Amino acid sequence: MPDELILLEQQLRHHDDRYYRQADPEITDADYDALRDRYLALCAARGHTPYRAGPGNDLTAGFVSVAHRVPMLSLEKAADGEDQSAAGQLTAWVERTRKALGLDAPLLLLVEPKIDGMSVSLTWQDGQLVQAVSRGDGVKGDVITAQVLASGAVPARIPVTGTLEVRGELYLPQSAFAALNDRLRAAGEKLLANPRNACAGMMKRKDANEVKGCGVQAFLYHVAWADGVAGLPNSQIEVVRWLKTLGLPVNPHLTACTDAASASAVCAGFAQQRSSLAYDIDGMVVKVDDRRFHERLGATEHHPRWAIAWKFPPERKPTLLRGITVQVGKSGKLTPVAELDPVLLSGSTVSRASLHNFPELARKDVRVGDTVFVEKAGEIIPQVLGVDLARRPADAGPVVPPTVCPACASPVLADAVFIYCPNPACPAQVRERLRHFAGRSAVDIEGLGEAVIDQLCTVRNLTSPAQLFSLTAEDIAGLDRKGAKSAANLVAALQAAKSRGLAKILTGLALTQVGEKLAEDLAGRFGSAQALLDLAARHAAGDPEPLAILDAMDGVADTTARAVLDQLANPAVRQVLADLAAAGVDLTAKLKEVRSVAGVAGKKFVLTGTLPTLTRPEAEALIVAAGGTCVGSVSAKTNYVVAGEDAGSKLTKAQTLGITVLDEAGLRALMEG
Ligand code: IVH
Repeated sequence: MPDELILLEQQLRHHDDRYYRQADPEITDADYDALRDRYLALCAARGHTPYRAGPGNDLTAGFVSVAHRVPMLSLEKAADGEDQSAAGQLTAWVERTRKALGLDAPLLLLVEPKIDGMSVSLTWQDGQLVQAVSRGDGVKGDVITAQVLASGAVPARIPVTGTLEVRGELYLPQSAFAALNDRLRAAGEKLLANPRNACAGMMKRKDANEVKGCGVQAFLYHVAWADGVAGLPNSQIEVVRWLKTLGLPVNPHLTACTDAASASAVCAGFAQQRSSLAYDIDGMVVKVDDRRFHERLGATEHHPRWAIAWKFPPERKPTLLRGITVQVGKSGKLTPVAELDPVLLSGSTVSRASLHNFPELARKDVRVGDTVFVEKAGEIIPQVLGVDLARRPADAGPVVPPTVCPACASPVLADAVFIYCPNPACPAQVRERLRHFAGRSAVDIEGLGEAVIDQLCTVRNLTSPAQLFSLTAEDIAGLDRKGAKSAANLVAALQAAKSRGLAKILTGLALTQVGEKLAEDLAGRFGSAQALLDLAARHAAGDPEPLAILDAMDGVADTTARAVLDQLANPAVRQVLADLAAAGVDLTAKLKEVRSVAGVAGKKFVLTGTLPTLTRPEAEALIVAAGGTCVGSVSAKTNYVVAGEDAGSKLTKAQTLGITVLDEAGLRALMEG
């Protein structure tokens, strides 16, 4: 049964995805921290290994994932903090490392830039690149061989025999990033947040042909595995030189140091130099040079002990707050946004920053005309940190939260934190919903960027996704930036988008709590919009079973299950789906592993005690995959109780109610059908 821990983890994953992959967070850092603190406390109390947040986890639906031969870990960090400087932490690390090695002599170190890209592990078999794998969750990653080959970032053939697995970073140079965004701007599409996101997005294109000529490059820095490979040096710095002789791309800025003080000086020096590099770096990496020591030092669960990352302090700059606009989100949330004098921060120009919500704005006392400090949190999302009060103009007054929606003038609703426009037909909400529907994470309609959607709403009065599919080339051709050719292309793209399948459509509907993952799970579990709509109708009529069925799905909390069914019972949502079906949009999905078994499908199971071979989640998965549901407690409606060793009161209750009790063998027999 989903409990608070699972629910929290699910929420954190969602918010990490919004933050790190979409660069479009939904909650404030403070709210995120509160969630994470609660999660970590629960993990500690239950001995559960916490899910690690961060840009690391890039596993993507639709890619084949494979286990890494050696896990791809992250790095311990040295950064200026309240207690200790980064230099102090580096000194302590060097001392700890020398002690662990029992070394009296100085420890030879290698200092190099920490590339802000996407980690990749590349395997050459007898000189032929046979596999490229993304970092994934560190234990398993996505196979992106075709994409890496198409990018031309590394040679397909190198002069080496045996098996050689090399790790490094794929990255998009700033110039290629700017060119890519120029193209997106010209096409009226949403711009990419930074070169790292752009690179990651590129390498996760399903069609590898789209990666050709995109400008992705690589720096390789580590040999993770070598079998039958001749000539591999013992020194890390020599390894990098050796990789270069094989024709592989390596970073030229490698510095050998013999103590922490000189390594710190190199790192601090690079902080000044970083803006003159053609690619983004987010710090430096200090490594033990002798690879024989690497094995002796080993690794913790999270990071190797032979390297440490030196993080640069985030760049922070003052700029003028020209105005505060109020954005209306797809579900009506009103968000204040700072309109700034453009300022260059960590490699990209910042001219807007979310102020998150009105209480937060009041707390920071940000006013129009103020000089504010902006910083890129985690080098990704620009944040307004605070105000330079000394430079506040005399006439700057506090911001008054809106009482009516700026787009449709409906009187707003408010809870303790947020303000909402309650009008679902509000033109701003309609536009945001359409943008989301056409967006990359949802139906992904090429050529239907924000600028085109804006015009379709204002000039062609579009209000619902289904209307998109009846647009003709003539409807489109008259719009700004759309000639006859691009109109024809868009019509073709709309035709193609009809067959994306249910998961993408569900994502596109922007239902509360239904992100990409849940949309896929729902599509895979139920196979069609109709099946889901039927379930929701039964739920609305008071039948408790639909809720139990959703509750039994992996990782679906009860509140989420209710939200899904309530929304799918809503006549407006049902109408949107009916219109999409009428427009010829495919609202079906391939059922995932649900091999409905006659004796199991539609039946309710309760598990109790320890089964001889199956764990609880495995047994649940088997039952669910065969079309059954697992519920938490025994009632007259329970069909089977599966009991193992040390079964308790649930078994007794089953016996009193006369419910069939199965052991593991019985369950397996039932599964045979
Ligand atoms: S060495 C941990 N060297 O930073 C395994 N990593 O935050 C050894 N990275 O996962 C990594 N530049 O993807 C190393 N010059 C560099 C790097 C680098 C970027 C990435 C790498 C790693 C992440 C840890």
